[in-house]
Amino acid sequence: MTLLQLLAQRAAAAFAAIGAPDAQPAVQPASRPEFGDYQINGVMAVAKARKANPRELAASVLAHLDLAGIASKLEIAGPGFINVTLSDEFLATRVIAGQQDVRLGTGVAHPQTVVVDLSSPNLAKEMHVGHLRSTIIGDALARVLEFMGNKVVRQNHVGDWGTQFGMLTAYLFEQESSKPAEMALHDLETFYREAKTRFDEDPAFADTARDYVVRLQAGDTRVLALWERFREISLAHCAAVYEQLGVKLTADDVMGESAYNDDLPKVIADLKAQNLLTTSEGAQVVFLEEFRNKEGEPAAYIVQKQDGGYLYSTTDLAAVRYRNNVLHADRVLYVVDARQGLHFQQVFTVSRKAGFARPEMQMEHVAFGTMMGKDNKPFKTRSGGTVKLVELLEEAETRAFDLVSSKNADLPEAQRRKIAHAVGIGAVRYADLAKHRTSDYVFDWDSMLSFEGNTAPYLQYAYTRIASIFRQAGEVDSNAALHLADPAEHALALALAQFPELLQQVAQETAPHFLCAYLYTLATRFSRFYDACPVLKSEGATRSSRLRLCAATARTLQTGLSLLGIEVLEEM
Ligand code: ARG
Repeated sequence: MTLLQLLAQRAAAAFAAIGAPDAQPAVQPASRPEFGDYQINGVMAVAKARKANPRELAASVLAHLDLAGIASKLEIAGPGFINVTLSDEFLATRVIAGQQDVRLGTGVAHPQTVVVDLSSPNLAKEMHVGHLRSTIIGDALARVLEFMGNKVVRQNHVGDWGTQFGMLTAYLFEQESSKPAEMALHDLETFYREAKTRFDEDPAFADTARDYVVRLQAGDTRVLALWERFREISLAHCAAVYEQLGVKLTADDVMGESAYNDDLPKVIADLKAQNLLTTSEGAQVVFLEEFRNKEGEPAAYIVQKQDGGYLYSTTDLAAVRYRNNVLHADRVLYVVDARQGLHFQQVFTVSRKAGFARPEMQMEHVAFGTMMGKDNKPFKTRSGGTVKLVELLEEAETRAFDLVSSKNADLPEAQRRKIAHAVGIGAVRYADLAKHRTSDYVFDWDSMLSFEGNTAPYLQYAYTRIASIFRQAGEVDSNAALHLADPAEHALALALAQFPELLQQVAQETAPHFLCAYLYTLATRFSRFYDACPVLKSEGATRSSRLRLCAATARTLQTGLSLLGIEVLEEM
């Protein structure tokens, strides 16, 4: 049980004891140190309902609040808040219990099977910044859920099917006569553009392209082989990005649109059998009363075109069935651009109606906003083109290398390169994760690479400071008792003990920015502790206790950063 859950349970019991079992006491971490460590709300609502004096009512809640051995001070504040200060001994036990656990006390009581649909670029083109966000956010959520003991199944739902592959395979066939496929597809963006120009300008080529679509769908071996080649090379481009970013995604996680081809007729048949389909202008449609347009007409969710072709929407229904029937997911997270919000609401609604998802399988659209340039417009190259992710990540490392070299010119170059990789990639990831995912965010090299403020370099640097303490400390008793005497020690220990509830919030709200804010608080509290409490210069039990606090901070920082996919260094 997390600290927060423990306090909420005790608060609920106290409300029940005063005859208000339905009251909803809200326990929150205190927003200011003078409010103690946690604040219990909820008295005011009961007082209002009973027309009672809130402070008097708070006093009777307090009389029934059993926090023996947990709190050292309870106080009624303002119009009926209850401020709770945890006892130093209790906090010390919580910190130590966390340290003795591989999951740092974050393990869930009931592990779930969670499918995370992430990254999922369209293979016809180069991966772009929109997929960078899905990849980074999805990777962090998958890591957090896994760390807490859930079974996580990553699904890279790549776009590897559809009419544009007729044009692309036809063009690849032409190109292959003069150069190997790898070379032709070296730059996917250019390849796509050239193929499109051919298609628009040469009617004969356009006919071939259309013919290739038909053949591809009919399973023609030659066209299928071209498609496979294209797919393989495009996936290799993605793998290079994952590798550089340190994302835990492999070939086994790829479950693209084409994987569902055989299921699509079954999806249609099932919908038909359940009387959910209507023929509208030749197309097969599910009308959704839940989604009406301005004219009051129900939304039309098209699952099969007039020519018999299937759509993105059909594939997503097949994917829901697979995740339900085969993967037995308890929860499915779709980490996809906010602009696809309506699509997913409709996928979920149709899936429920058709029984493709068991009622207890949760489906959530983990939406995110757009990555903007410094000009507050969607992030593009100077000439207005799509930014290649590989180049973006290279630039991050180059900038970090210059930064590290200017700060620490004496380090051998190989070491500076290693630091630059961790700092550059860490900065890109952290800048994305630190903002609430639904807001748009401005991609700005200078602020993300700053050593001050809520940034990856600041946290990585905080970690190296602790590492350097241990290089100087000599032998350390890793089982030393914790004595929290100074307020700065208390504040640091509190943050350490809050790690489990924090991860729980990240998992529940699918919001990694809470973890970033937490790590930043942890690092600043460490810094205050280090200023206020001498560590290496202290002696005996005090020294051992403080070193143990340092070790716990280092481990929590490292764990937290690794859940965001960010490496720490011993020196930088
Ligand atoms: N390939 C899609 C795109 O690039 C994203 C797919 C997201 N996942 C899904 N199950 N629809 O927009």
